[in-house]
Amino acid sequence: MICINAPAGAGRDNAPMIPGPFDLRADAAWRAWRERKLALRPESVEALLVEVADLANPTPAEEAAIRERVARANMALFATPRPERVTREVLRSFAARFGLRRLDHNEGADEDGVTVLRVVDDAQWRRTYIPYTNRPIHWHTDGYYNTPEAQIRSLMLYCERPAAEGGENALLDHELAYLHLRERDPALVAALMHPQAMTIPANRVADHIERPDRPGPVFSVDRHGHLHMRYTKRQRNVVWRDDEATRAARAALENLLDSDSPWILRATLQRGQGLVCNNVLHDRSGFTDHPGQTRLLYRLRFHDRMT
Ligand SMILES: [Fe+2]
Repeated sequence: MICINAPAGAGRDNAPMIPGPFDLRADAAWRAWRERKLALRPESVEALLVEVADLANPTPAEEAAIRERVARANMALFATPRPERVTREVLRSFAARFGLRRLDHNEGADEDGVTVLRVVDDAQWRRTYIPYTNRPIHWHTDGYYNTPEAQIRSLMLYCERPAAEGGENALLDHELAYLHLRERDPALVAALMHPQAMTIPANRVADHIERPDRPGPVFSVDRHGHLHMRYTKRQRNVVWRDDEATRAARAALENLLDSDSPWILRATLQRGQGLVCNNVLHDRSGFTDHPGQTRLLYRLRFHDRMT
């Protein structure tokens, strides 16, 4: 298996942390990592796609093909020719093959931790949340408003039914976003690693605080040396650190996301297709449902990173 992230010695409890490529002081490790990352970068969304004949029983070769793509790009797309056999339980067991077991039971999720993404037009609370409408969703990583302990490390989407039109996801490996910024100026990365870089303000319902302020870095490195990103491009309900370095970093990141960079891959999931990823940057275009053709995706968020 290709492993380009973990520094030597990582993964063992009490092992000394050796500066990995994301440490701004580690120039040699960074340059070696950067070279490899660019050499392995998939050039098209098709290069990420793996056919899996039976999601309930993937073969070792199918599993290895997904792992190989995730090691390169932090994401893989999968497609099964037998979507009629896919249940929520099958999706959970498929995710578990890659070490994804600790499901995030977010507010929109059902009891099994699986969230149904579809347009909800009744009076439920979901109606006020964009994922349950057909409107576009800005670039983000999932769970940026979660506590540091409950960050979303990975994510699976599965398409039961595409929309009649639209519903495309743009995808950008967050490690490439880091690479782009560090190459331009390491100070941009340093600003986004500040523990107060981005705060999601408290969510108040009447006079009750549902969620306190959630300050945190955009980029962070876990104890195994893996890069994590929490980010939203939305303008409302986000408070950025008020200094020049953060403004410059945020602008540089937005420029990349708004660009036609070949690093940004685009896919509209079709029936039987899914995405599994280490919570890479993504957005979603708006879409149109027609009677008999209404978009329905399942989403599973995990506190585990893919292994
Ligand atoms: Fe998302």
